Amino acid sequence: MTQSILKLDSVDVSALESYREKFALDVLTGLSEPRKSIPSIYHYDAEGSKLFNKITELPEYYPTRCEIETLKRNIAQIAGYMGSETINLIEFGPGDGGKTRILVEYFLNKGLEFQYIPIDISYSALDDLHQRFKKSYPKLELKGLVADYFSGIKWLNNEYDRKNVVLFLGSNIGNFNRAKSKLFLHNLWNHLNDGDIVIIGFDLKKDIDLLLRAYNDSRGVTADFNLNLLQRINRELAGEFDISNFRFFATYDVFSGAVESYLVSIQKQEVIIGEIGKSFHFDPWEPIHTEYSYKYLESDILSLAKNTGFILKENLYDEKRYFVNSVWEVNKPHAS
Ligand SMILES: C[S@@+](CC[C@H](N)C(=O)[O-])C[C@H]1O[C@@H](n2cnc3c(N)ncnc32)[C@H](O)[C@@H]1O
Repeated sequence: MTQSILKLDSVDVSALESYREKFALDVLTGLSEPRKSIPSIYHYDAEGSKLFNKITELPEYYPTRCEIETLKRNIAQIAGYMGSETINLIEFGPGDGGKTRILVEYFLNKGLEFQYIPIDISYSALDDLHQRFKKSYPKLELKGLVADYFSGIKWLNNEYDRKNVVLFLGSNIGNFNRAKSKLFLHNLWNHLNDGDIVIIGFDLKKDIDLLLRAYNDSRGVTADFNLNLLQRINRELAGEFDISNFRFFATYDVFSGAVESYLVSIQKQEVIIGEIGKSFHFDPWEPIHTEYSYKYLESDILSLAKNTGFILKENLYDEKRYFVNSVWEVNKPHAS
C-alpha cells in the first residue's frame, strides 16, 4: 500500500526558497504593470485554503453545493467511466478533497481498482487531504503531487501505462481566460491516451444577481479570502500592507463571462515590500486584479472540447442546471 506525497518542481521542500523567489518575482511583475495584478494561484496558502473552505459553506456560494449534488445524483454513471482494470484517478486542484471523497468512497465500495493522484499547488491543502484520506480510507492507493497543473501534466506522461480518468472540479477551469483554458486542455490532451476520460466542472452563465451575490457575500468571507493575498505578502515577503486601506470589489463582465475580483486602494499610499526591496505607489481607487472566474454557455463547452481534441460524451447537471460536470473522452484516432 503506498500513500505518499511527492513534491514536484518549485515546491519541493528543498526548493521552497525558489518558490518564495517566484512569488516575489510574480508580485514585483504584477504590481509594476500599469494595470496591477497578483496571480490567483497565490490565494492558496494555509490561511487562504481555510478561507476558501469557508466560502464553500456560504449560503450565497451555490457552485459547491450544485456540483456536490451533480456528482451524487450521477455517481453510478461516473463510475461507469472507470473501467474494469486498475486506473489512475488524477485530480487537478482538489483543495481539501471534499467532493472527491464522495467519488472515492463510492468507487472503493464498488471494489473498483484505482490509484488516486491529487495534484495541487498548495502543500497545506494536499497535506490536509492526505492525512484525512489516509485515516478514512487506509486501503486507498494515494500519491499526491505538489505541483502546478502544467508541471503535473508533464509528470503524467511516462509514469504508468494505464487508463487515466482526470477530475478538474470546482470550476477551477474558470480561473483561466478562454485562450489559457484552451492551451491547458490541449496540453492535457497531448499527455493523455486515446480513450482516457476528463471530467470538468464548469459554472454556467446565469442570472447576474445570483453571480454577483456569490462573490460579494454578506459575511465578507470572500473579501477576507482576497485580502489574504496582501497578508500573505506581509508574512512571506516582509510586505507592509495595511489591509484596512484596501477594499474588495467583484463585478461581472457579461461579454467575456468573467466574474472579476479586485482589491481597490481607498487612498493614496506607498507600500514597501521588504523582500523585493521596493516601494509600490497606489493612487486613490486604483485596483489590483486578483482573480477571474469565467462562466460558460453550453455551446462554449462543446466548442472547447472539439477544439482541444476531445469528444464530449455527456453533460451532468444539478437540478437547477446552475453547474455542469462535462465528461470528455480523449480522441486520438491515429494513435497506435
Ligand atoms: C477553488 S479551489 C477548488 C478546490 C476543489 N476542486 C473544489 O472543487 O472545491 C482551487 C484549488 O486548486 C489549487 N490550484 C489553483 N491553481 C492551481 C494551479 N495552477 N496548479 C495547481 N493547483 C492549483 C488551489 O491550491 C486550490 O486547492
